[in-house]
Amino acid sequence: MLCARPSRSPRFSEGGEDDDYDESKTRKTNLCSFPVRPLPNNNNITKSLFLPLTILTIVIVLIIIIVMFRNNLVCITQSDHLNLLRMDGSNSDFGSLGVPCCRSKLGQTVEWTTKDLIMGLEEFIPIYETRPIKNNVFGMGFDHSFGLWFIARWLKPDLMIESGAFKGHSTWVLRQAMPEMQIISLSPRHPKKYLKKGAAYVDENCTYFAGKDFIDFGSVDWKSVMKKHGILDLSRVLVFFDDHQNELKRLKQALKAGFQHLVFEDNYDSGTGDHYSLRQICDQSYIRGGGHSCFRDSDEARARMERKKFWEKAVDIEELCGEGDSWWGVRGEMRDDFNHSNKEISHAEHFQNSRFVESVLDVYWELPPVAPSSLTHQTRYDPARAPDPIIEDGRFDLFKRLGLTNFETSVFNGYTQMVYLKISPTAP
Ligand SMILES: C[S@@+](CC[C@H](N)C(=O)[O-])C[C@H]1O[C@@H](n2cnc3c(N)ncnc32)[C@H](O)[C@@H]1O
Repeated sequence: MLCARPSRSPRFSEGGEDDDYDESKTRKTNLCSFPVRPLPNNNNITKSLFLPLTILTIVIVLIIIIVMFRNNLVCITQSDHLNLLRMDGSNSDFGSLGVPCCRSKLGQTVEWTTKDLIMGLEEFIPIYETRPIKNNVFGMGFDHSFGLWFIARWLKPDLMIESGAFKGHSTWVLRQAMPEMQIISLSPRHPKKYLKKGAAYVDENCTYFAGKDFIDFGSVDWKSVMKKHGILDLSRVLVFFDDHQNELKRLKQALKAGFQHLVFEDNYDSGTGDHYSLRQICDQSYIRGGGHSCFRDSDEARARMERKKFWEKAVDIEELCGEGDSWWGVRGEMRDDFNHSNKEISHAEHFQNSRFVESVLDVYWELPPVAPSSLTHQTRYDPARAPDPIIEDGRFDLFKRLGLTNFETSVFNGYTQMVYLKISPTAP
């Protein structure tokens, strides 16, 4: 098992200096706010009714929570664990639209907490400042670089595989997480080719299946490659995909090879992106925030239209819905290979795909954005379609103290719900 914790830097002191933290912005939904009729001004009556009313309120809240869990109305994310009171969704930080996620078989989640992520940020930010490729447009920005580094550092794999290297920034990130470990990188163009034009990263301890040696992940004889690299236990391998291929295809290939720890960089939302993603696959009407109405006069249509005015990557109903009101994937298509190879799929097929994915998952965890738009000033992705940020709204002091104000705002633009999957060892 890959469960070792990274060596930790001294505990990060939260609060204290965060004088301008605005509590009202992180207001919790209060499930207990039942209307209570004013009581006669009689202290004894008030006292005698206080205990039964409190017990009744607690019982009602517990019943609501149990019913919601039993009906699978909620996807459990880390922030849900932290804020159980938000479960009614009425004041969810996912916003009015809500977001779908994949349910794991046993409802397990990752073992790291928001505190661990904040400590990770403290350690990673000075590292990110030294990145060799400062301009990584078309590659990962800050959020996903941190996510990949954090996951690799937490899991401490014996081998890391990446599919989709571009100029080598993600190889560099993996190397920072695990300085001594082997990396295998697959990419049609070798990163060294980019050196001629500017910054690129070529790793000395990396086996490249790139350039003339390129092999697609699905065609590699992983058994013999693992043997060659001395890997006996596949649960000690981390695979990172940033190759814009259909993620269902990649998941099946990884399953066939026996890999258990996968990270997908571009986990696009329904109606967006150039390949079929986990987020799209699990977007189903039985999950809160999942499934969509293509009715032009619906609340969803109105909310999407409004949000499109503020967020560049938000999609309105016209973009979301294709012929026959097909909203799944991208307008009813399962996209693949940078949008070069697409296939129309029926809703029944799409539904079967989600059932399959959920049957093999032990953990599905979407990396939260590092900070809210009020601090990063990003205007691309819609925060209503993302999990709660690691740094809460209003915590400018923490954002500044960590050194995040030193970066150009463009590094916060690339967030696309990077996801970590732990495949069940008993998966078929
Ligand atoms: C978005 S870029 C990767 C960015 C990189 N991970 C980073 O963070 O800087 C996508 C890369 O996938 C590569 N690619 C295209 N088809 C691929 C395939 N079948 N397998 C692996 N990589 C592929 C592209 O050539 C490109 O370098």
